[in-house]
Amino acid sequence: MADKHDVKIAVIGGSGLYNLENLEVVEEVNPETPWGFPSDKIIISKLPSGDKIAFLARHGRGHYLTPTEVPVRANIAALKFLGVEAILAFSAVGSLREEIPPCDFVLPDQLIDRTRGLRPSTFFGEGLVAHAGFADPFHQGIADLVYKHRGVMDQYTLHQNKTAVCMEGPQFSTRAESHMYRSWGADIINMSALPEAKLAREAEIAYQMVCMSTDYDCWRVEEEAVTVETVMENMVTNSANARKLLNAVLPDLDKAVRDNTLLPDLKGTMKFSGMTAKE
Ligand code: ADE
Repeated sequence: MADKHDVKIAVIGGSGLYNLENLEVVEEVNPETPWGFPSDKIIISKLPSGDKIAFLARHGRGHYLTPTEVPVRANIAALKFLGVEAILAFSAVGSLREEIPPCDFVLPDQLIDRTRGLRPSTFFGEGLVAHAGFADPFHQGIADLVYKHRGVMDQYTLHQNKTAVCMEGPQFSTRAESHMYRSWGADIINMSALPEAKLAREAEIAYQMVCMSTDYDCWRVEEEAVTVETVMENMVTNSANARKLLNAVLPDLDKAVRDNTLLPDLKGTMKFSGMTAKE
């Protein structure tokens, strides 16, 4: 399957980013995995170089899956079956810092898990025990490559090296929680980074989130607490900027992955994570 599709990189689109415009669609696939079907059909498109890339809408193209309902194991397994080696995952986030206003973008390098154990977050278990290293949940090489292209984002800023917190949702945080996350050192908050980042690590796929700020959550006294309306308004600007960034980044990222200059550290990492398999 991997040879047939020859796809090396995938974009996972979050709220507001449901397709890749400007690229010729080659085919749509819907692979059934041992964990079921992905969130939606995976769209395979051609870059100007002729190389193919994959796109998957995390919540489905009509946004019908809550963060808790996203079939993350099927999503990551389906991308792995296509041959994907690197994922650029977009997500709307709330900002926990004054210096990250709505419509700025963030490349996080750290992550705090505040999901509530409702989302299956490993491919292992049932007699097969493995402990993947997860000290650095995102891929610095991909983040650096994306950061290089920040100039295309008009007047908005792309921030690097920030800490994300992933909460369960679907409700937003209380003010006490928002203040607590700030006191923990978190800079942004979303509902989608996990278990996506963990499962990508287990699948030996390099993973970097590109977070699109939509609101100041509810920690700021002078500001109205986050509403879906605010999030949706800013998502329009954000998806336009995400497309600009993608047009610049995708050819560069695809080439780096195909030339093997970006991911030499990734292959075989799970070899050292297995502990036992039931006889
Ligand atoms: N996604 C966008 N804004 C958010 C917020 N304030 N909290 C959690 N997830 C979000």
